[in-house]
Amino acid sequence: MYHSEGTPHTLSGFPAAASEFVSALDGNRRRIAERAGVSGTELRALFRIARLVSITPKDLATYLGMTTGAVTAISRRLVDMGLLHRIDHPGDRRSLYLELTPHGHDIMGEIHREFNDMLSASTAALDAAQLEAFTAALTSVAAEVRVRSAQALRPRPLAGGGAMTTPYYRRMKVITVYSTKGGVGKTTTAVNLAWEASRNSRVLLWDLDPQGAATFVLNVKPKVKGGVNSLVSGKTGAAASVKATAYERLDVLPADESYRDLDLVLDAAKKSTHRLARILESVAKDYDVVVLDCPPGSSLVAENALRAADVVIVPLVPSPLSLRSLDQVVSIVTESAKSTPILAFLTMVDRRKTGHRAAADSMHDARPEVLAISVPATVVVERMGAARAPVAAFAPNTIAARAYEDLWAAVAVAVHLTKPATKPTKKSHPKSR
Ligand SMILES: Nc1ncnc2c1ncn2[C@@H]1O[C@H](COP(=O)(O)OP(=O)(O)OP(=O)(O)O)[C@@H](O)[C@H]1O
Ligand SMILES: [Mg+2]
Repeated sequence: MYHSEGTPHTLSGFPAAASEFVSALDGNRRRIAERAGVSGTELRALFRIARLVSITPKDLATYLGMTTGAVTAISRRLVDMGLLHRIDHPGDRRSLYLELTPHGHDIMGEIHREFNDMLSASTAALDAAQLEAFTAALTSVAAEVRVRSAQALRPRPLAGGGAMTTPYYRRMKVITVYSTKGGVGKTTTAVNLAWEASRNSRVLLWDLDPQGAATFVLNVKPKVKGGVNSLVSGKTGAAASVKATAYERLDVLPADESYRDLDLVLDAAKKSTHRLARILESVAKDYDVVVLDCPPGSSLVAENALRAADVVIVPLVPSPLSLRSLDQVVSIVTESAKSTPILAFLTMVDRRKTGHRAAADSMHDARPEVLAISVPATVVVERMGAARAPVAAFAPNTIAARAYEDLWAAVAVAVHLTKPATKPTKKSHPKSR
C-alpha cells in the first residue's frame, strides 16, 4: 500500500481483493436498484424491512441515519409504487409500521434469488471445501471489520471548519430554493435571488445539482477540487472550490459531475443529514447570504439543504398539482422538527391563460405561504441561459426583474437580514442594473 501525490491510490494483496469484491457487490446493488426503479437508499430501506418483516419509521430512520421526515418521503414513494404499506394501529396514531406488500415480497424474493444465482455462478470454479473455507473467512472478516469500524467512528474535524465556533454561522443566512418537482424554476430563482442579495451582501450560491445549471448561467467552470467527496469528507475546504463571478460580492460554489454521487457520499458520511451545514460553517466568515440551488426530489441532498436553511423558497407553477408539491415541502420541513419559514411564489405565469390566472389568484388566497408575487412566463427569463447572466443584469426594467427584486425583499424580511452593505470586493457591479 502506498500513496504519493500524482500517482494513483492502489492497494495490493488481500486489501485489493477485498476492495474489488465490495465494489463488485456495490455495482450489483446499484444495478438492482436501477432495475427496480428505486434509489440506493430506498433499496437499503427495502432490505431492512424485508429482514425485520415490520419496522416503525423511527427505527428505519435510525438505521438509515436519516430523519423521520426523510423516511416519510421515502416510504411514501415506496407506498405509491405498491412495494410497501403502512399498518396503523387503530387505537394509537403513533404506532405505525411499515411492511412489504405482496408485490414488495415478490420483488425482494426476486432480488434475493438473483443475488444467489449470481454468487453461485461466480463461485462455480470453487469446490465445496474451498467454498466452505471462503464462507468462514468472509464471515469472520466481516464481523471483525464491523467491530473495528464501530470503534473507529469518531467525527473528524472538517478542514478549516472544525475549530470554528458558530457566531459567524448564525449571522450568515441560508436560503434554500427547493421543490420536490423538477423544472419549476428553482435554478432561475436561485440565480436571480443571489444576484439581488449581492447588491448589499456578500453572497455565495452553492449549486447542488450535478446538471450545474446555476454554475453555467453564472459562467463559472464546473470544477470541484477533488470532487464532492473531498468536500464532504473535509479533505478539501469549500473555500478552495469557490469561484468568483462577473459580479461583485457574488461567488459560486460550482457543481461538477461528481455531484451525481452526492447522495451516496452523504449517505456514507457520519451525521449524514448535517454535512452541508457543517461545510457552510467553514465559509461563514466570508458571506452574509448563502443560496442553495437544490436538485428536485426528496433526497438526502435536499434534506441537508433544508436542515441548513433559514428560509425555504418554493417556486410554484400555476397548476393544481403545484399545491401538492408545496404540501410535500411543508411536510418534509415540518417533520425535520424545524420551524423554518417557507415562502412560495408563482412563476411562469401566463396571464393570457384562464387557468393560469385563476390558479395564480386562488393560490395566494388559499395558502399563507404563497406570496403575492408572480414571475411571468417570458422569453426574457429564458434568455438567461444564452446571456449567461441574471435577468436584472441584462434586462433590468422588465416585469420579471422587478418580480425577483420583490421576492428578494420578502426573503430579506423573513430572515431578518438587516445587515448593511459590506466592504466592496473585487469588481464593481455592472452599471446596467
Ligand atoms: N419565468 C419564466 N419564463 C419562461 N421560462 C422560464 C421562466 N422561469 C424558468 N423558465 C425556464 O424553465 C426551464 C426550467 O427552469 P429552471 O432550470 O430554473 O428549473 P429547475 O426547477 O431548476 O429545474 P430542475 O428541476 O431541472 O433543476 C428553464 O429553461 C428556464 O429558462
Ligand atoms: Mg435546477
